[in-house]
Amino acid sequence: MPLLFVKGDITKIKADAIVNAANNSLLGGGGVDGAIHRAAGPELLAECRTLHGCETGEAKITGGYRLPCKYVIHTVGPVYRGGNHGEPELLRSCYVKSLELAAENQCESVAFPAISTGVYGYPKEEAAEIAASAAREFLETHEMTVLFVYYNGAETSGRRELSEYIRKHWYEPSKYNMYTVREETAEPEAVAEEAEDAKPPVQDSLSAEKRREKEARKGVTGLFKKRKLTFESEAAGSDAAVCNRVSERRDAYAGAAASCQAMQAAASKPMGAHPDFRGMLDESFSQMLLRKIDESGMTDSECYHRANIDRKLFSKIRSDALYRPSKPTAIAFAVALQLPPAEAEEMLKKAGYAFSQSSLFDVIIRFFIERQEYDILKINEELFRYDQPLLGA
Ligand code: APR
Repeated sequence: MPLLFVKGDITKIKADAIVNAANNSLLGGGGVDGAIHRAAGPELLAECRTLHGCETGEAKITGGYRLPCKYVIHTVGPVYRGGNHGEPELLRSCYVKSLELAAENQCESVAFPAISTGVYGYPKEEAAEIAASAAREFLETHEMTVLFVYYNGAETSGRRELSEYIRKHWYEPSKYNMYTVREETAEPEAVAEEAEDAKPPVQDSLSAEKRREKEARKGVTGLFKKRKLTFESEAAGSDAAVCNRVSERRDAYAGAAASCQAMQAAASKPMGAHPDFRGMLDESFSQMLLRKIDESGMTDSECYHRANIDRKLFSKIRSDALYRPSKPTAIAFAVALQLPPAEAEEMLKKAGYAFSQSSLFDVIIRFFIERQEYDILKINEELFRYDQPLLGA
């Protein structure tokens, strides 16, 4: 995953380079500057002396010494004075210059603290936006893993309306027994049936004849459901056979579409007891993803960058029509494609998942999709705050 948010102490991060929020003298100080110098040992200060300071918004590089990283990139953030003295541009420049320096030194990973948000007083939310957008722009043209290290996870305040939404929609499994959760998520008829079975036995006013009829009806419904289930699994089997015959993306799609047309023609003939034959013509997750990318007008790389997915994983998905991604990956693509809730559900279903109200991760994702907010970095920040897996690979 190209962009990661982690909670922890940056002096312990094993990235190729870590970034220090230094001051213009580069001769150490408090906060993260002090922590990095303490952990790196006196050799770091000795090298810093040779650099003769650093301008605000600029960056310089030294060795990592006793730290578990190869390099330390020292950058000097702006002191916040209300935001109208060029602070945003200077803060953005800290990230851009540090990333460029990391790339020049062949770093594959670089870790940032929340520059200027401590002693220099930059509001955390605004600073996080500037950091994320600078990193996202850089990652459109570079392959690198960028980590944002939040010291105690309190670097940005949470969204109040999200915590409201979670309170309303999240059925925390530990708080509810499974029955309550099932009742909320079961199919209406299933609940009705349960309610029917759960009803206390009353003197049944139905005649014996009516009772027999009711029993018989229940039997048929049950059988039909079972047959439908079997039929669908057969369908999945033959669907897999269709997809197995294709290899490349275009051929795969064209191949599967041609076979679907053939099957559709077959389906239009009277099918006897199985009216739901059409159900078996589903495209796979990977086919739906590629179709949606084409429909969106995005290139493949725009889509997987927006989904915060690395190129290797995307090529695996593209080349295997039956690839099953992880749930965060499937959702990351639904978000990158800015799918409305129903289509996001459909894409998730094709990957073998469904949104669940007992999953905090799902509830947070639904919050953003229902508001048509598709910025993965913002979503990841909230997932990160609630200790949930992040979107992306
Ligand atoms: N790991 C990760 N993040 C840390 C750590 C750590 N070990 N220690 C502090 N932080 C976080 C703080 O929580 C804050 O969010 O780093 C962020 C930046 O805070 P500061 O270190 O105060 O840096 P800054 O606001 O840029 O001020 C720089 O402070 O330490 C002096 O010499 C430094 O004069 C310079 C000024």
